[in-house]
Amino acid sequence: MYDDFISKIDIVDIISDYTGLKRQGNEYIGLCPFHNEKTPSFHVSRDKQTYYCFGCKKGGNVITFIRSKEGLDFFDSLRYLADKTGLELPEKGGQRSNKKAEIINRTIEMNTVAAQFFYQNLKAGRGKEALEYLKKRQINPSTVKRFGLGFAPDSWDLLVKYLVTKGYKENEILTAGLGLRTKKETIIDRFRNRLMFPIFDVRGNVIAFGGRVLDDQLPKYMNSPETPSYRKKDNLYALNYARKSEQNNIVIVEGYMDAISLYQAGIDNVVASLGTALTERQALLLKRYTKNVIICYDADLAGQTAALKGMDVLADKGCNVKVITIPSGKDPDDYIKSEGAGAFRKLMDKADPLVEYKVKVYKKHCDMSTTAGQVEFLNLIAGALAKIDNRVEVEMYGKKIAHDYGISLEAILSEVYKNEKVYKTKDTGKLQVEAPTTMETKNDSADIERRLLILLAMDNDYIPEFNAKEGDTFFEDNDHLLIYKEMKKNYRNKKTVRPSSLMQMLDEDKAALFAQVLQNTHFESKELVGKAIDEMIMKNRLSKTEKRYNEVLVAMSNTSDDEKRKELKDEFTRLNRELKNLKR
Ligand code: UTP
Ligand code: MN
Repeated sequence: MYDDFISKIDIVDIISDYTGLKRQGNEYIGLCPFHNEKTPSFHVSRDKQTYYCFGCKKGGNVITFIRSKEGLDFFDSLRYLADKTGLELPEKGGQRSNKKAEIINRTIEMNTVAAQFFYQNLKAGRGKEALEYLKKRQINPSTVKRFGLGFAPDSWDLLVKYLVTKGYKENEILTAGLGLRTKKETIIDRFRNRLMFPIFDVRGNVIAFGGRVLDDQLPKYMNSPETPSYRKKDNLYALNYARKSEQNNIVIVEGYMDAISLYQAGIDNVVASLGTALTERQALLLKRYTKNVIICYDADLAGQTAALKGMDVLADKGCNVKVITIPSGKDPDDYIKSEGAGAFRKLMDKADPLVEYKVKVYKKHCDMSTTAGQVEFLNLIAGALAKIDNRVEVEMYGKKIAHDYGISLEAILSEVYKNEKVYKTKDTGKLQVEAPTTMETKNDSADIERRLLILLAMDNDYIPEFNAKEGDTFFEDNDHLLIYKEMKKNYRNKKTVRPSSLMQMLDEDKAALFAQVLQNTHFESKELVGKAIDEMIMKNRLSKTEKRYNEVLVAMSNTSDDEKRKELKDEFTRLNRELKNLKR
């Protein structure tokens, strides 16, 4: 179904965005984007549309690459590639997708009408209290306009009625999250007597709302639910403005008011995460505009915990993360109002790099006067350092921490590279780390099955012949059997199966094993593929016969039943003969 789409994408193009690739014969070679290395062992094949790293043994096709590099599932990887390449993604049933787009557009249109309604209400007499509130919070009229702030009147259904006159149906209003159904089956406004913040997507469409009470009532904010136009975890508030900033970084704050207030003070590279933990999608969204991110969350515990979590999400996606801690427990909005934009910019300049921030937090958290506390500190630090890809950087931070906290560098690095060997070289006395050696793949039945599937994918025309000779019983591994059945189905439907598409149905580890075999397989002619298939059939028979031979041998020595014994003996003789034949 998606094979045609995937076949239009070139893996070399996609991977080139992650690592430099140099052509070498039929292949492209570069530094592995999955592990840290100095000499290139990462191979990409344009013919096969696969990659394989001889260092860390990761491998697969373009989908497995995006899946593991961007942390997306299969469908999101497809979507990601569609966005990136501009190719159209086939949706199940083309009309459905158009219908979906239509619903999204209609929701956005309705939100825009609602935003205008709220804005007009703010300017009208009934918005007086809300205007006063904004004044009290020092939000000036041009900012109100810029962010499209408004007021939801204190009535049951003014907006719903307004939307109905504009031609929207009740169920559409419910779907858009602007109305609520009461017990009496009437539809009322979701937002009542609240200061309204339209939420924009990057293109500036109104996709949702947040509404704040004008006093200390709870809940403080009411937000649109997830709707066709709004996926909370996919969006960042004010990114539509921040992406146009001249600055080469972006500040992330928690709240609507923080973002607006910073923006008003001239810090236009600010976005708000709106009180949720940062997601991978938000990190990737940000990364489209800049890699340099400064987290500036509230100084309270909730804020700082959220900051810690968000940092790792961002760093994992390759962002360069720094953290601002605002002095005296203020939130960014309070701070910029009392200290001014200049002071805030100084905080930005002095923001702690991620590791240094973590060290500060961990130090506060651990009781350094006890051994247990020191051990915990060491573990936490090691965990933070282990996340850094660059070993030079790890060592640099390690040295600094060792110096500042009186811990030996060797102890820190041993903990960071727990599974690897850390040793001092004789000549330079420098600490060195040796990567663990990985296992060789065995010539076992799973490996034979893998090779066979690859061969069939290289030349689909061998499928019927193989099916007649061997068929489903050839496969012991369930995943392999599923792939084989899928192949047969595709063949019947006259669809080509490519070697690279085998990997899509597998988890990361299994896909890598396929990529490894594929990387080492080259065939000049069709006949050779046929020969290799026959060889795999023989090998599989041999392996199965050997297995059965051993089972019979064990069973023979365990049985005291004469009848049974004789049966086994006969089978044993037969197997023995077969083995001799097969090995010949
Ligand atoms: P804050 O309480 O820090 O809000 O929550 P704020 O934007 O700074 O508002 P002020 O300054 O008190 O007016 C941060 C964010 O968490 C979400 C909102 O998105 C808010 O901007 N939140 C908070 C809710 O969704 N609901 C709530 O009840 C509270
Ligand atoms: Mn606030």
